[in-house]
Amino acid sequence: MRTDAELAAQVMERIDALAKISEDPGRLTRTYGSPAMRRANDLVAGWMRESGMTVEVDPIGNLIGRYRAAAPEAKTFLLGSHLDTVRDAGKFDGALGVLVALACIQKLHSGNQRLPFGVSVLAFADEEGVRFHSSYLGSRVVAGTFDFDDLKRVDSEGVSLREAILRFGGDPDVLHGARLDSKQLLGYVEVHIEQGPLLEIKRLPVGVVSAIAGQSRISAGFNGFAAHAGTTPMAARRDALAAAAHFIVGAERLGRNTAGLVVTVGEISVQPGASNVIPGCARLSVDVRHPEDTVRESSCEALRLLGAEVASERLLGLDESLLRAIAQSQSPELSATLKGVSIKCGLLWQVVQSTSSVQCSTELTALLKEATVQHVPSVLEIPSGAGHDAAALAAITPVAMLFVRCKDGISHHPDESVAEADVLVAIRVLGRFLELLAKKHA
Ligand code: HGY
Ligand code: MN
Ligand code: MN
Repeated sequence: MRTDAELAAQVMERIDALAKISEDPGRLTRTYGSPAMRRANDLVAGWMRESGMTVEVDPIGNLIGRYRAAAPEAKTFLLGSHLDTVRDAGKFDGALGVLVALACIQKLHSGNQRLPFGVSVLAFADEEGVRFHSSYLGSRVVAGTFDFDDLKRVDSEGVSLREAILRFGGDPDVLHGARLDSKQLLGYVEVHIEQGPLLEIKRLPVGVVSAIAGQSRISAGFNGFAAHAGTTPMAARRDALAAAAHFIVGAERLGRNTAGLVVTVGEISVQPGASNVIPGCARLSVDVRHPEDTVRESSCEALRLLGAEVASERLLGLDESLLRAIAQSQSPELSATLKGVSIKCGLLWQVVQSTSSVQCSTELTALLKEATVQHVPSVLEIPSGAGHDAAALAAITPVAMLFVRCKDGISHHPDESVAEADVLVAIRVLGRFLELLAKKHA
């Protein structure tokens, strides 16, 4: 039987083993349905089996480990997080939550301990939404809130989500059946790095989460007209990239001037993309978040109006047939996006995803706090600006989250780092939480 400290050391070794599984040479990137995701699933599935769990992969590719209850008809408590990553990611985002949960099950298994409820560890297949620009694809299937229109979404190579699920060995036509029955669930707890600086500032190893901010993801585009960089007078240009730049500066200003709002343009692509051609089309992602949904939604509308204003000021609107011709000729992704999206005055604006903010369960959080109090002088309760699968699972069961301190609050960056001593605290707190929950349900 491993000691808690040995379990923490093993989590760190497993974090490093998973970090080597990437689709990008020299950096960590693991996106939905990739061969890297399959290898990560296979590695974690082996660790689940070693911890006495039965293992299943659901129709979208979520990996699910089940640790049987003392009695067959008992309900289930869910633990877990995601195994996909952003591009050039840190190695703890997602993986830490799966591996700390596994360490707690491993401890129960080696002590032949059974709880009055089953425990399932969920390793979600796509939380970040890097490939299809819509996050929580895995946890939405488990929660029964998957949007089937998303199956038509295409990636940068024009591969649809439907096709990607099939290639990953899943079955898009049975996603309905993969939802978990909320009547059978007692709740969900996710351990995750804080991805912010508060725990480090307060010198605390862990904290609990009060709420998860809502988020909107928008796919925007400025459509101008590609032309010769040398012969087109400045006044005659419809430069899509210059328009996008004008919009981005305005979007940043709105974020800076609105308390609690964050606005990010993380991706931009330009067509046709040659140094001596004025950009005819610029596509960008817009990520908008705020703890209050009304502020987030009104900010999204303000950004759309800003985009329309920039487009009409700078670019004469193009009629749809000409725009479709441009789109068909340039990018399958753009042409697929154009279907069903209104095009006004040269601006493309499509809300790809809108997720409401989620309050964590006071009851589960109180139990998590009780489990935490032995390890910290005071229990900090933090609102999460980052999204998490817990936000999707809240649709079917009460959720709570345990944050773990990360160095300088860095995340979504290879410098993301967590101390082994804090992983040890997280294992002890989650283990104690399960004991307290077992007492409640004995
Ligand atoms: O974007 C987020 O907040 C999360 O990392 N998916
Ligand atoms: Mn992330
Ligand atoms: Mn994450």
